[in-house]
Amino acid sequence: MPSSIYIGVISGTSMDAVDCALVDFNGGKPAQLDFINTEIPDDLRQKLLYLCEDHNNQIPLLGETDVEFARLLALSVNQILEINGLKPSQIAAVGSHGQTIRHMPHQNVSNYPFTIQIGDPNTIAELTKITTVADFRRRDLAAGGQGAPIVPAFHRKIFSSAENDRVIINIGGMSNITVLKKTGEISGHDTGPGNVLMDLWVQQHLGHPYDKDGSWASTGKVDEDLLSSLLDEPYFKLPPPKSTGRELFNQHWLNSKLAELNQAIAPEKVQATLLALTVQTIKNAIQKELNKGQIIVCGGGAYNSALMQELAQSLPSFEVMPSSRLGVMEDSMEAVAFAWLAKQTLSEQPVDFTDITGSAHPVIAGGVYFAGKRVLRNTY
Ligand SMILES: Nc1ncnc2c1ncn2[C@@H]1O[C@H](COP(=O)(O)OP(=O)(O)O)[C@@H](O)[C@H]1O
Ligand SMILES: [Mg+2]
Repeated sequence: MPSSIYIGVISGTSMDAVDCALVDFNGGKPAQLDFINTEIPDDLRQKLLYLCEDHNNQIPLLGETDVEFARLLALSVNQILEINGLKPSQIAAVGSHGQTIRHMPHQNVSNYPFTIQIGDPNTIAELTKITTVADFRRRDLAAGGQGAPIVPAFHRKIFSSAENDRVIINIGGMSNITVLKKTGEISGHDTGPGNVLMDLWVQQHLGHPYDKDGSWASTGKVDEDLLSSLLDEPYFKLPPPKSTGRELFNQHWLNSKLAELNQAIAPEKVQATLLALTVQTIKNAIQKELNKGQIIVCGGGAYNSALMQELAQSLPSFEVMPSSRLGVMEDSMEAVAFAWLAKQTLSEQPVDFTDITGSAHPVIAGGVYFAGKRVLRNTY
């Protein structure tokens, strides 16, 4: 009998770690068997960040980092196998998102919109001996979609409810929402920055990778002038479908907004304002869709208690809860989603992203890199 166990592996915009989930789909619903984080070595992280910016002739670095990062993804997969005493033959497939280094889906800006995720799937299949599914976004883009966000399709599978209107908020480096109405309608988009600007700012001023529990932000007061200047960004006013990334919301964007204001603001106030920006943009996006319902939060931002508190206070007619209350851990949601997407791809099941990404029709997302059981038997 074919295995029902899949592995999902991803590193998001934050580049905080590789997330790897071992998931059993026996019985239809995903059961998480294990979840691990694999650290991204600092020099590799620096290369990935460099590839997210515009520099001359990055092609050799791109080629090398594609393979270097794939080796780290394979290491993570092999670690989770070893910890759980599993053999490659017991896993149906790895679903690998890779690392986004450029996301340019804007059909109105270029005739040739594109998105690039690296982490060579050939390398993963070779080093893990497991069939690997990757490149999940580009088929949707080819069908006229944004290629992002795509995890809402998984949210629909596991969180749809006939009793409650629900919003799933994923607060990663960027933040995205999925609105699941009890009537069955789905919508969603990237709301803008999640943690990425807060991470940059606390790194720059305190040298910490992130502001644990939002404790530094809590020491400052929101600067209303800065907040309204940040909110003035045209992206926030664009109608969906829309998606975004580090191409827009980066150090340069923040610095130019601060420079425009022409007045010094204490760093902790800036941090408080960046937290308020994340909350405000999520709130505005939700209020366009619903007046009340349940809010389910996932992504690393769900562990930022100050952020969670602000969110709950600014949306008092909603019941706000972390996703773990409904059975999926906050930090593993996306890795589990890519395990599910790999399963859909292997069984040639189209996934319907149309209401989210704007693509013309459902697509079979992902390319398959077979482990090649016969080849492997002879070679290894
Ligand atoms: N205890 C915490 N307090 C505040 N922020 C946190 C905490 N834990 C995680 N985070 C935030 O979550 C981010 C990682 O979230 P994640 O969902 O992995 O994002 P991505 O999908 O972009 O990788 C970290 O960079 C950090 O900003
Ligand atoms: Mg992450």
